[in-house]
Amino acid sequence: ELPQLIDSFGRIHNNLRISVTDRCNIRCVYCMPEKVEFLPREQLLSYEEIVRFVRVAVPLGIDKIRLTGGEPLLRKDVDVLVRKLVEIEGIVDVGLTTNGMLLAPVAQRLWDSGLRRINVSLDTLDPDRFLRLSRRKGLEPTIEGILAAKAAGFDPVKINAVIIRGFNEEDVAPLGRFAREHGLEMRFIEYMPLDAGHLWEREKVVFAAEVLETLAREVGPLAPAPNQDPRAPAVDYDYLDGKGRVGMIASVSRPFCMSCNRIRLTSDGKLRNCLFALDETDVRGLLRSNAPDAEIARALVESVAAKWEGHEINTARFIQPERAMHSIGG
Ligand code: GTP
Ligand code: 5AD
Ligand code: SF4
Repeated sequence: ELPQLIDSFGRIHNNLRISVTDRCNIRCVYCMPEKVEFLPREQLLSYEEIVRFVRVAVPLGIDKIRLTGGEPLLRKDVDVLVRKLVEIEGIVDVGLTTNGMLLAPVAQRLWDSGLRRINVSLDTLDPDRFLRLSRRKGLEPTIEGILAAKAAGFDPVKINAVIIRGFNEEDVAPLGRFAREHGLEMRFIEYMPLDAGHLWEREKVVFAAEVLETLAREVGPLAPAPNQDPRAPAVDYDYLDGKGRVGMIASVSRPFCMSCNRIRLTSDGKLRNCLFALDETDVRGLLRSNAPDAEIARALVESVAAKWEGHEINTARFIQPERAMHSIGG
């Protein structure tokens, strides 16, 4: 009987987030610096290496995967990886989180490869604010990508918006209306200290309570949704008129660490047992030195066993990880 991925707080881990690249085609201020040195290609795990790792992780209880970046669609033929992962017996769910800019032309191909869950980042509907937040142009292709995903069959398409005071508070209501109009599931995310510039300040976080108040006032009255998954990061609300759902990912004001079921594999093959982990476990070295499956499994079990209780953003002890979000994988 194989050990489960259970930590010392009793949390069982079934959800693996795999970053396939640290590269991105835009430069969101909450995630990346303007100037950045990307990992050399040979440091990235190959699709074969990723698949091998997943095959080792499945018997330990991993059944859910999300591909992230940087921007995952910058990696060549991600749909090929999706198909390989979907075909692994024991994997029940493969998702992808993208900035959407390159999505329109590949949305159908992703659907056909077996992907069924897609989350797209969109923080503003204003081209000037998009440029300020992401330091690049890209509003139009992102919206095209979202609509193409919807047309390809993804339902729901989830939209992620990080709201930062002084940048995009005025987008809360327009984003809420946009999502309702197009049948998308809007999610508002509290800004976390994972930006490359270490410029995060509590004063810049627009908390979920404030977002909810704005939506209720300017878009429509809301009530907590029934039958929520207590392990999902988002707390969902339904519009009372039945037209749409909105999620709050309140990582700062309402941490969900106590129900965390996630581990991460970075694009250069390091295991992280928390978004905010300060230590990593190297698995690329094991994969490349022909280590037996049992040794890779042991590294995974030990990484999970060593997991701490949760992030300490709300304490004076907090230390921001060395890596920024794009290199961790979100
Ligand atoms: P599913 O549950 O698979 O639908 O995905 P998700 O909603 O977790 O994925 P997504 O990549 O869209 O992430 C949405 C937001 O949740 C991002 O801002 C993530 O950084 C945040 N998030 C994801 N995982 C964690 C986590 O382990 N801890 C914290 N604090 N935030 C997380
Ligand atoms: N705080 C909160 N969310 C962030 N994301 C990236 N950086 C941060 C941050 N500092 C979000 C992106 C994307 C998801 C993978 O993570 O908007 O939707
Ligand atoms: Fe790129 Fe996503 Fe980071 Fe923005 S949040 S810079 S889209 S990886």
